Order: sequence, then C-alpha cells, then structure tokens
Amino acid sequence: MARTFFVGGNFKMNGSKELITKLVGDLKAAKLDSSVEVVIAVPAPYIDLASSIAKGSQVQVAAENCYVKNSGAFTGEISPEMIKDNGSNWVVLGHSERRHIFGEKDALIAEKAKFAIENGLKVIYCIGELKEEREANKTMEVNTVQIEALAKVIKPEDWKNVVIAYEPVWAIGTGLTATPQDAQDVHKELRVVLTKLVNADVAEKTQILYGGSVSGATCVELGAQPDIDGFLVGGASLKPEFVNIINTPQ
Ligand code: G3P
Repeated sequence: MARTFFVGGNFKMNGSKELITKLVGDLKAAKLDSSVEVVIAVPAPYIDLASSIAKGSQVQVAAENCYVKNSGAFTGEISPEMIKDNGSNWVVLGHSERRHIFGEKDALIAEKAKFAIENGLKVIYCIGELKEEREANKTMEVNTVQIEALAKVIKPEDWKNVVIAYEPVWAIGTGLTATPQDAQDVHKELRVVLTKLVNADVAEKTQILYGGSVSGATCVELGAQPDIDGFLVGGASLKPEFVNIINTPQ
C-alpha cells in the first residue's frame, strides 16, 4: 500500500497577522499536487486565523504543542479542545526545541500525544538525535527510546492518527541536511523498530517524514527514498520554495 506523501510546515515562533494571512493565502492560491497531505503548524495565537483562511483548501493547520488536560490551572498551556475550537485537528509534539530548549521528557511528550489522540487530534510526533549522539553511534538507540515512549501508552489502532517526523537535531536550522542515503537508512530502521514495538501493519502504514534543512534543492533526492514519506519543513516553509517542496516529484 502506497503511503500518502505528507509535507508539514513548522512556522515555529514566527508570524504576525499580516504574515500568516499572506503565507496561508499564498499556499491556498498555489497549484499544489492534490495527492499530497499539507499541514502547516502555526503559533497558537494564529491557529484560528490560519484555519479560517485555509478552510476549504488542501491546506490543514496544526498547533505546535498542547497539554495533557483540556482545562485547569496550567498557566500558558493550550489544550486539544482549544486547538479544535480554533479550527485545527493536528498538533506537532516532541519537537527537538520542546525537548532541548524547554526540557520536555519522553514520557510527557508521549502522554501529550495520547491525550491529543483521545481528544480527536492527529499528531506529528517528532524524534531525533543530537550531533553527539550520532557521533557516538547512538542514533537508533535514541530514536527507538523516543518511539517506545509513545508505543507504551497508545494502542496499535491509535497509530493511524500518528505521523512520525524524524529530525536529526544536528540538521535543524543548520543548512546541514542529512544525505538522502543516511536519512533513508534511519527511516528504514525506524520501520523495523515499529514492527518490533507495535506490529508490521503499523510499520508499513505509518508515514515517516524527514525534517532538517529541507529545501527546494534537497527535497527531490530525499523524496525519492522509499521510506521517506515527506518532510517537516522549518525555515523553507516561510518561503515561496515551500510550494516546490510540497510538489516534490514522487
Ligand atoms: O520541524 C521542522 C524543523 O525543525 C526543521 O527546521 O529550518 O531545518 O527546516 P529547518
């Protein structure tokens, strides 16, 4: 079964009402490959604006984080219900910046994903190793632990609501893209891990995205790899070349 090609944009902490209106409007007006799933993650204040503009188009909107409750004394947090109330049904969780700047641990990220799925959201679940972990040949060990945290708390049938984004941290925002072969090797191994931790059907059907300095120049060779099902794009999602990345030949 061919997995649908999926291109996510991660605007991170970038945007204004004017910029979000322009970026989402331009995407909505662009000629996009209709077979590609397109999801853009925007800062929480702009979820409603982006969702309203994107409504009726191929472009879906995601939140960049959520908590493990739908209400209560959790200052600063947002909930799956609030995300849905603002027109989105996706959330990015476990991004390396949440892990390494804000100290989110595997167990919390997994609980967030479980709660998000239980509340009707689909999850882009980010994993990835640090430069020093790769240099210590711990790439698969680290990524396995991060996937295992999720596999422990969700049911096999929940994986239909999960897209994995493998983002080697050393490639994020650095211009240092993983080589297509390196990325393919990890993606292929991640399917082996999913087979062991969940089952072969989930391993085959789960979309695994590559993220880390994806650009119009690097997307073609990366997208040609059999176990790379798309991208999670940071910097380039804010630029016109994002349309070319969405339209990567498959
Ligand atoms: O979530 C995607 C992001 O971490 C990748 O950033 O700027 O390297 O494409 P960038």
